[in-house]
Amino acid sequence: MSRSISLAVIPGDGIGPEVVAQGLKVLSAVLPQDVKLETEEYDLGAKRWHATGETLPDAEMERIRQHDAILLGAIGDPSVPSGTLERGLLLKLRFAFDHFVNLRPSKLFPNTTSPLAGDPDIDFVVVREGTEGPYVGNGGSIRKGTPQEVANEVSVNTAFGVERVVRDAFARAQARPRKKLTLVHKNNVLVYAGHLWKDTFDRVGQEFPEVSTDYLHVDAATIFLVTDPARFDVIVTDNLFGDIITDLAAAVSGGIGLAASGNINPSRAFPSMFEPVHGSAPDIAGTGKADPTATVLSAALLLRHLGYEAEAERVDAAVTADLAERSGAVRTTDEIGDALAVRVAS
Ligand code: NAI
Ligand code: MG
Repeated sequence: MSRSISLAVIPGDGIGPEVVAQGLKVLSAVLPQDVKLETEEYDLGAKRWHATGETLPDAEMERIRQHDAILLGAIGDPSVPSGTLERGLLLKLRFAFDHFVNLRPSKLFPNTTSPLAGDPDIDFVVVREGTEGPYVGNGGSIRKGTPQEVANEVSVNTAFGVERVVRDAFARAQARPRKKLTLVHKNNVLVYAGHLWKDTFDRVGQEFPEVSTDYLHVDAATIFLVTDPARFDVIVTDNLFGDIITDLAAAVSGGIGLAASGNINPSRAFPSMFEPVHGSAPDIAGTGKADPTATVLSAALLLRHLGYEAEAERVDAAVTADLAERSGAVRTTDEIGDALAVRVAS
């Protein structure tokens, strides 16, 4: 039987192309001989916008839709007005392809230092809702630029949207050894959205009796992420809270060079998109200093999503072993990618 993976590759800006090259290197090395990796590169991001004014033309989006999955490096440059590429490219893909599960695992790998005291045991995953909340662009402003300016940015929460992500999070918790799910919201103040989330969480939870549940207000969650991160297994939360706590989660678990993410459409109606959490890092672009590990770990999430579980585990294991043996010697982006490719192939 011959199998294949058709991958849309969006290297993007800054260090994006540098880390994506390593992700592809490791993917090619880990896949069995009979699996053909077909990649098509899309030139999107700041360079393209400067050249043509385009962010993501519909025809290109239609072509991207045909692939099995998307691997993205990073998008953005200080020379592009803030919001242009975020809304016109990244959010456009996440919304159009209905990436309602934004998956962000946090794990403290060996030999990585957490800024937290002691040696905290960190191994949790945040399931962030990806298609609703305050990020849908439901708002506007009037009397702009005057002292009477009014700005609204409405958080949209639907019973359908909340239930599907909560259900996904319960299923993920059920599949993990600890089987614990924490809902993070702010239902003491945001009572309308908060109660929809809490009621849905309690109702869906009845179908998962093996999963123990817990609720935290988002402000309290930031305390525990720092004082007791070991208490978390799976966290489910809305788009905005998820954005913020996953940056905190990345910071406490060894840094941005290791944080992976998946923008997932679990129904598989559209391709899911995998990307490191970090941005284009213009300060180190072209210097060979970018750590490609976050991209490689994102490629592992991609493999798992497409059903290549054994290969995903080999990539995770290679990263763990590589980090455990990292000495003080500084390696280039390429050298780290090569080392990981060698490990997954053996
Ligand atoms: P950033 O994540 O690009 O960089 C923050 C700091 O982390 C910098 O000092 C950078 O050198 C370092 N860093 C990031 N990735 C690294 C890696 N793999 N290895 C070693 N060091 C790394 O965030 P920043 O500076 O706020 O944003 C730069 C640009 O990236 C902006 O245009 C921003 O909009 C965009 N961005 C794009 C994202 C995406 O494509 N999903 C996410 C975050 C930011
Ligand atoms: Mg963010």
